[in-house]
Amino acid sequence: MRAEAETRKPARPGKSAAERFGVIARPPLEWNAEVERETAHLYERVRHHIPEFEWPVYAPYVAAINRLKAERGAVILAHNYQTPEIFHCVADIVGDSLQLAKEAGKVDADIIVQCGVHFMAETSKLLNPEKTVLIPDMKAGCSLSESITGADVRLLRERYPGVPVVTYVNTSAEVKAETDICCTSSNAVQVVESFGVDTVLCIPDEYLAQNVAAQTDVKILTWKGHCEVHERFTAEELQAYKDADPEIEIIAHPECPTDVVEMADYAGSTAGMINYVRDQRPPKVLLVTECSMASNIQSEVPEVEFVKPCNLCPHMKRITLPKILDSLCEMKEEVTVDPAIAERARRAVERMVNLTN
Ligand code: 13P
Ligand code: SF4
Repeated sequence: MRAEAETRKPARPGKSAAERFGVIARPPLEWNAEVERETAHLYERVRHHIPEFEWPVYAPYVAAINRLKAERGAVILAHNYQTPEIFHCVADIVGDSLQLAKEAGKVDADIIVQCGVHFMAETSKLLNPEKTVLIPDMKAGCSLSESITGADVRLLRERYPGVPVVTYVNTSAEVKAETDICCTSSNAVQVVESFGVDTVLCIPDEYLAQNVAAQTDVKILTWKGHCEVHERFTAEELQAYKDADPEIEIIAHPECPTDVVEMADYAGSTAGMINYVRDQRPPKVLLVTECSMASNIQSEVPEVEFVKPCNLCPHMKRITLPKILDSLCEMKEEVTVDPAIAERARRAVERMVNLTN
């Protein structure tokens, strides 16, 4: 808890984002012919998940957010785990952690609204210190990020002198500042091997580290952090699906326990999983990850049948259309990082981005 709490102190003593950009009153939210026309093409992308009779509840928010986004000159970055109405109807850029970090570095807008969890917004801020980064709910955390502090990393360095430290991007800026380089689930093996040494600390996700260890000769030391969503999947559960339908393809995120990943036909980041389904079009697939992923790609691959053992990330689900609208109206919640921490943390993220470019 401490790590995130320390980097979530209120904004710097200067002017707040609301003072710099001004507050705009929440527009009226009505379902009318204009809103229907404005959002009709967007409804086509989510009709698999939102029944027609419910769209009049969503559409006024979608229309208001898109208008306000243009008025503010803001961009919305959304992670693959966001709900379909956010992913398909208001986001400008969607992706996995690595894609979002890379895109955040290229964004040409003064305001970034991060629809994801706090460490993602912090990463955007690290890569865009001059820009205003907002998160619609400051409490959108992550069990991995909260499992370790900067002080813990300093202790690990004392215990394993000279061993390079690779931190998963799912960590606070304070933790990133203590490490050599970041990684995501899509590049962890490449990052670990980039040092050319025989032992590397890969923290804080124990399962990601074990899954990386299975793919490299480098000895991996780790930490006992877990993703509260992915640690719940079990090999027995997957076997039951396989027994019911031996043809089903299993695709898992590397934050899952190793016996789960071993059963998978493919394991990779959320973007890797999406690409696998897009390219392979398996007739029936079990996505062993957060529930919204399957909903988000369903419209693109209507012929694929998704079986969803539904585990939701409660942190990702804190982000909703009403909160995004309030965020744009009131310019809240602003994500800031102590400049002394930010400089060192940025280096760790930039090393990863440069390595994977
Ligand atoms: P990805 O980098 O694969 O998008 O994963 C982020 C995450 O939080 C998964 O739980
Ligand atoms: Fe963190 Fe897991 Fe949620 Fe991803 S799914 S944000 S790793 S708690």
